[in-house]
Formats: sequence, structure tokens, C-alpha cells
Amino acid sequence: MKRDVFICEVGPRDGLQNAKHLMPTEAKKAWIRALAEAGLEEIEVGSFVPPKLIPAMADTGEIVQFAKTIPGVKVVALAPNLKGFQRALEAGAHKVTFPVSASRQHSESNVRMTPEQMVEEVRKCAQHPHPGVEIEGAVSTAFGCTMQGDVPEDDVVRIATSLAEFCDAVALADTVGYANPAQVKRLFEKVSSKIGHKLEGAHFHNTRGLGIANALAAYEVGVRNFDSSMGGLGGCPFAPGASGNVITEDLVFMFESMGVKTGIDLQKLFVARKILAEAIPAEPIYGHIPVAGLPKGFRAAA
Ligand code: COA
Ligand code: ZN
Repeated sequence: MKRDVFICEVGPRDGLQNAKHLMPTEAKKAWIRALAEAGLEEIEVGSFVPPKLIPAMADTGEIVQFAKTIPGVKVVALAPNLKGFQRALEAGAHKVTFPVSASRQHSESNVRMTPEQMVEEVRKCAQHPHPGVEIEGAVSTAFGCTMQGDVPEDDVVRIATSLAEFCDAVALADTVGYANPAQVKRLFEKVSSKIGHKLEGAHFHNTRGLGIANALAAYEVGVRNFDSSMGGLGGCPFAPGASGNVITEDLVFMFESMGVKTGIDLQKLFVARKILAEAIPAEPIYGHIPVAGLPKGFRAAA
């Protein structure tokens, strides 16, 4: 199916890494299968980090291998270093995302490296043989940081430009939900004027309620790849105050009602949401459209 925008579901990674309750491996598989059945072609299924650090990600190898058996799904995993990258390659991930914080304090808290050291770590990974595997550099805390406060736009541009030298794609991430739509437009345009089509993805958190407004702002300046999380789960455990991503259900509804094709079936998305809610029942999950229901006479984008 032709799609106008490409949504990557990051719930199994960004969502579950910050959930208070562990989702059993078999439930993760059922959820990922349901997400794929709803039409999500790209799913970030986990991260290759030390299991002691984030126990919820301990089964990522098995989850990647499982997700690869679902036809048509691009299986994405996050890695913070070469060791994680090697584990991702071994498991067979199609795409690996690296978090490179523009905030020095968040970088040191998250990956125990300065932004410059992290850029060099990603360069090392890019130089490591990885036939057919895509590498994405995600500039995190690109719109502000709960520890550092302001993150200078020049720092974001500099890191994005370095990453574009050796990554297949670069994304800008609002890790702690500080961005506003005007800032989103300005920064995406600024970075895109330096690295062009390499600037691909937008990763927004909904911490202050502007996630969907920021996604629309990014769309309006030409962004077509969006991360989002079912039920609005999510948040970086190493960024104080971080909470959930922009909500997949609401993002799909926004685009479809605007006539922008996502390739995702909302009714099937609600089926996947039910699986998620049953798998971690004590975890709060969010969303407007799943609660309010689709408007009478709603038609998906044709
Ligand atoms: N997967 C599994 N084990 C890993 C690993 C990886 N990717 N990277 C390092 N390790 C192991 C090492 O082998 C070592 O094991 P040992 O104690 O048995 O010898 C141990 O972890 C410490 O390794 P070190 O290289 O010193 O790592 P560190 O303690 O400095 O931590 C990171 C650095 C990058 C591994 C860690 O900070 C991290 O995983 N950060 C990512 C956090 C995250 O997921 N944030 C949310 C997403 S943005
Ligand atoms: Zn995130």
C-alpha cells in the first residue's frame, strides 16, 4: 500500500524500557504481531543494552528474531555502543538506532559518554561491517533537557551534521517533551539545510501535551517519518521527568482524518491496544481516540 507518512512504533522499546511492570516475552510477541497486523511496517522492538541496566530489554535478541519472521516488517533496535550493535547484528535487526544526546549532562547520564565520544562510538559502529543493515543516529534532547535546560541549536546542528557523514539517516528527538511547534519547524529546517534528505525522523514525547502538535509542525516542513508509541507509553529512564511518546492511535487518527495515508488500520490498532492493556494491566495507558471512539462517518484516507 502506498503511504504518505511512515510511522515507526517504538512502544516495545521506548515504552517498555520505562514501564514499571515487565511484559513477558510471549506477550511482547503477541503485541508486536498485532501491531504488524494493524499495518505498522516499522517497529522498534527493543534495545541491546546491559540487561542489568534495563531488565525489560533482556529478551531483545529473542524478540528481534521473532519479529523478523513477520513478513514485511522492518525490525528496528536501539544500541548505545559497539557491543550493543554487534548484538543487534547477531540477532538480525534490519535497522539500528543510536541515541546521541545533544545535552552533555543527558549524554553522560544516559550512555556515560560525552556527545563527542558518542558520535565517535557511532562512527566506529558504522565502520564495522554491517551488510544491509541501516544505521540511524538520533539526536536526543534536541529541543531541551531536564538536566541542562536549554540545548543550543548549534550543538544539535553540529551533531546531526557529524552523524550524517556515516549514518544512513538522522532523526531529531524531543526526549523530555520540551519542544513547541515553532521550534520544531525552525530546527528541522535548520538541520535539513545542512544535511538534506539524511534528516528523516521525528521522535516526540508528549510530556507537556504538545506531542501531536509538534508532529503536525514537522509534517508541515516536510518530515514524513514519525516515531510514536501505542498508549503513549515511554520515556528515558536516564532523563528525569521524561514520560510517554506521542500516541500512535491519535497520530494515525490525525493523519488519516487529514487524508494523509498511514497504511495503518485504526480498528486493528485498537485490537493491538487491547493486547497491550491486558499484558501490563497495572500500567496506565493513554490516548484520546481509543477512549472517545472514531467520529460517526469517519473515513480513513483513501
Ligand atoms: N549490551 C550488553 N552488555 C553490555 C553492553 C551492551 N550494549 N555494553 C556494555 N556491556 C557490559 C560490558 O561488557 C560490561 O560487562 P562486565 O561488567 O560483565 O564486564 C558492563 O556492561 C559495563 O560495560 P561498560 O562498557 O563499562 O559500560 P558502562 O557501564 O559505561 O555503560 C552503556 C555504558 C552505554 C552500556 C550504558 O550506559 C547503556 O546501556 N546506556 C543506554 C541506556 C538506555 O537504554 N537509555 C534509554 C534509551 S535512549
Ligand atoms: Zn524517546
